[in-house]
Amino acid sequence: MDRLSQSFHALLPFLSSNLSLVVGAVLLVLLFGIRSASGDKDFRRDLRGAFRFLSVFLVLRLTEWALPSDVPPLTAKLIRVGWMLIFAFGVIRAAVALALQAVRLRSPMAAPKIVRDVIGFVLYVLAALPILQAELELNLGGLVATSAVLSVVIGLALQDTLGNLFAGLSLQLERPYQVGDFIRIGEHTGRVMQIGWRATRIMTFRRESITLPNSKVAKDVVQNFSYGYEPVAIDIYIRLSREAPPNQVKAAVLDVMKEVATIVQDPAPQCRTWAFEESAIRYQLRYWVADFAHCDNTMEELYTRLWYRLRREGIEVPYPQRVVHMRHEAEARPEFSSESVKELLRAVDLFSLLTPEELEQLRMELVPRRFGKNERVIEEGEEGHTFYLVVSGEVSVRTGKGQEVTRLKRGSYFGEMSLLTGDPRSATVVAVQDVVLLELDRPSFARLFVSHPGLARQLSALLAQRRTQLRAVAEAGTNAVSDPAPEASRILGRLRQIFSLSHQD
Ligand code: CMP
Repeated sequence: MDRLSQSFHALLPFLSSNLSLVVGAVLLVLLFGIRSASGDKDFRRDLRGAFRFLSVFLVLRLTEWALPSDVPPLTAKLIRVGWMLIFAFGVIRAAVALALQAVRLRSPMAAPKIVRDVIGFVLYVLAALPILQAELELNLGGLVATSAVLSVVIGLALQDTLGNLFAGLSLQLERPYQVGDFIRIGEHTGRVMQIGWRATRIMTFRRESITLPNSKVAKDVVQNFSYGYEPVAIDIYIRLSREAPPNQVKAAVLDVMKEVATIVQDPAPQCRTWAFEESAIRYQLRYWVADFAHCDNTMEELYTRLWYRLRREGIEVPYPQRVVHMRHEAEARPEFSSESVKELLRAVDLFSLLTPEELEQLRMELVPRRFGKNERVIEEGEEGHTFYLVVSGEVSVRTGKGQEVTRLKRGSYFGEMSLLTGDPRSATVVAVQDVVLLELDRPSFARLFVSHPGLARQLSALLAQRRTQLRAVAEAGTNAVSDPAPEASRILGRLRQIFSLSHQD
């Protein structure tokens, strides 16, 4: 440090000579040229500072030159000290900018702001000290060294700032995180927006900006969820009924985890039977997300989808203490009341031939099923032996490639094609909002065909119309429907075969 300060001292004669004026002017032109030629934003910003210093220097220097001889000595001295300081700062600024650019060109990582500021500050002080000492005859070094009181006051005042500064420097050297990383420090979680002199600023999930003093960061445990930008694992635990077989639970949970778009599939999600507890079995779910910022949304979607899926599979999420439900679900909810279901059944064209007793029988056989928004009810190509009637909400019928064929609402039905013909599912059906469906299976239909000759023919015509429309959308992307008659007789043949019906039916 001392040697550096002496070197600055040695430059004083050069500074006071006219040579510094020439050097300043030449430098100014050079910097202007380099700045205009460079396309690097950071480099141009660094050079702009140096350019401004040298411009002010030239103005002050020329002012001094043009001053009349009777100007008060103090004014002349202040102007002289001013341009000397500004010239030194300008040269330092330009040198630091050039050195930083050389580093930047070699390594892709820019020098952190905090390091640049510290280097600049130290050089400014080292240059200013000899100028102030020589020109104003101040013994600044001695003053600071001998004034014990001043030292203590400054020391105390800077205690926290220096603590933060050194912590900031050590963070820069260790680099436990960088700007853009998702981190947790103490109880604060968020994305790093800035690493500064005094503090690190993060943006939380709630988009609050939190400024954490570097000295606190240095003392706390830092968790980095973006280190190396690898997917980050999240563990959650769920408690499910002891009655549900673990293999069934694991298959259902893994299936749901495959459907959540923000869960990465490599590494594959895991579900483990974790513990037998007093009133439940605990499962560990481990999955990976590409960006920790998706953590909350992913967990939310996963829990929501799990609720619907577990409910459909009859897997109970137990209460801490078992509660006995005395009411049957169908009676507890107005949408499943016997009157409302019967009214729905009466409106379905398929069932228009049925007697009130048959409708009542059918009602008793229907099983309520709930699906959440975006859940697939039916997947194209799968085997199927269930039929669904929409009670509330809306579903979208799509081709395998995702083109929408139609939407179905309350009173519409789907799933009849595979159930009746034994063919694989002809389309994918997705819930576009939460839906309540009533499910019916093959034996119920078999009974209806026996008691209602003619129903099979009526159904075949309907099925053929749907299938031709589906094919038209899949092939041409239009709704133009070709003649469904040949398809109808093919379907009727399949239907008779599946349900062992005679040709009179
Ligand atoms: P299934 O083939 O069992 O499974 C997919 C279901 O989508 C199908 O039965 C029909 O119920 C339904 N579906 C296919 N095409 C149409 C259509 N064009 N209009 C209405 N529903 C359709």
